Amino acid sequence: MRHFPAGFLWGTATSAYQIEGAHDTGGKGRSIWDTFAHTPGKIYADQTGDVACDHYHRYRDDVALMADLGLNAYRFSVSWPRVLPSGNGASNAAGLDFYHRLVDALLDHGIRPFVTLYHWDLPQALEDRGGWGRRDAATAFGDYAALMGRTLGDRVKDWITLNEPLAIAAGGYIFGILAPGTIDPQLAFQVSHHLNLAHGEAVRALRAVVPDARVGITHVSMPVYPASDSEADRLAARRFDGFTNRWYWDPTLAGSYPADVLERLGALAPKMEPGDLERICAPIDFLGHNSYSRTVVKDDPTSVLTGVTQLPPSGPTTDMGWEVYPEHLYDALTRITRDYDAPDIYITENGAAYPDEVTDGAVHDPQRTDYLRAHLGAAHRAIQDGVKLRGYFCWSLLDNFEWAFGYSKRFGLVYVDFATQRRIVKDSGRFFSEVARRNGLDF
Ligand code: FCB
Repeated sequence: MRHFPAGFLWGTATSAYQIEGAHDTGGKGRSIWDTFAHTPGKIYADQTGDVACDHYHRYRDDVALMADLGLNAYRFSVSWPRVLPSGNGASNAAGLDFYHRLVDALLDHGIRPFVTLYHWDLPQALEDRGGWGRRDAATAFGDYAALMGRTLGDRVKDWITLNEPLAIAAGGYIFGILAPGTIDPQLAFQVSHHLNLAHGEAVRALRAVVPDARVGITHVSMPVYPASDSEADRLAARRFDGFTNRWYWDPTLAGSYPADVLERLGALAPKMEPGDLERICAPIDFLGHNSYSRTVVKDDPTSVLTGVTQLPPSGPTTDMGWEVYPEHLYDALTRITRDYDAPDIYITENGAAYPDEVTDGAVHDPQRTDYLRAHLGAAHRAIQDGVKLRGYFCWSLLDNFEWAFGYSKRFGLVYVDFATQRRIVKDSGRFFSEVARRNGLDF
């Protein structure tokens, strides 16, 4: 039995649009995800998050379930348009009240809340005025952060500004597969800069209203490995790492953008103003690390921007087609610790989708348990080797609305029958519960 350090946090992660439902209830405004999901052809089988896991109405039971599983932390996101239907200006009391009640329920069960302010559901009203393409979206985000700090800051101390700026910029503005579904690489890099500014504004706003807040940001990492030992492939891996990882880690942790990426971007590089990077790299208390897999690349001069081609996975994959390669977690965590003046780190998402089925009222999902065991082993080794890892949040508590894949991909430790909203704890949920209770596992 290997133990994790005393005080290690064991939780699950979710996001508002993926679980809450109640899309037009209690004065909530529309988000870009409401719009995107209601656009025919964007989501698997044209499904939407209108109802999702109906968590807005079932949060009490869901929190009780976490407590039954013995979890001591929970990462969830606030729906910005639920609390500020127009994005700024007048707040919505019913929306704020929902988060008051959720936080109180968590604390009643001894579960520490980690609040993500932005998990992709921008108020449509702001999008209509230019969204993240506008520099002043950062100001609106700072005001929203201050509102949430004033509302929950007496009880919530752990705050995550943004979830995965890479996914927002690349998915939303290069590939168009996430809301708002735009395809405009130049805009994508400008958006990534505005997101960074928004993060900086939120850090400042939260510190002003919650002096004892611990503030961080969650970046998704995709460790990049070269397809061969050739110098060309090694350089290719370094280039792709620049676009996917360093473009995000560097401004947050080192106050700069990577020079090699800026050079390749040329005219696509974002416009900045003096002082931006200082505002962006305001000190944070922790880094949130989301990671599911790795990528392997080879040099490809015909690929214009990055000059690489990503190879198909060579090993077993999950239902997302993502390679099961637990070492990526060890490699990324130790690398961040080595390359940056890294603060505490939380794994804010890690987990796996598999096509689960209910048999005799149970869900047997040995592959997910294997995935978790192997990844927790890699995390444990990273801690042994000096990484200041303080907690692990499994994605996800519940099967939920997996963005463009709708309900076709199941990531939960708890199965959801979407027709009845019945929850069934999967075998992997029991495994994770055991790990949390013992604060360790047998490898
Ligand atoms: C992450 C997202 C999360 C979920 C998982 C599978 O990129 O942050 O909402 O969709 O992937």
